[in-house]
Amino acid sequence: MFVCICKGITEKQIKVSVAEGASSVRDLYRELELGSQCGKCVGFARQVLTSELAECTYYDAAVVA
Ligand code: FES
Repeated sequence: MFVCICKGITEKQIKVSVAEGASSVRDLYRELELGSQCGKCVGFARQVLTSELAECTYYDAAVVA
């Protein structure tokens, strides 16, 4: 499923980025350029990111605090 139509970024790409260490929308912007055009995808991308971080076994909750 596409999350960012402007840059053609899928939910799967976001999940891969999280597995590789992305922990914020800013990280996704830097790695994938997500939200760099119209920005309408940022809200949904944040939901995907939050959900994925909650499930990621490598995620350190202290990073968000
Ligand atoms: S949909 Fe992501 S920048 Fe437009």
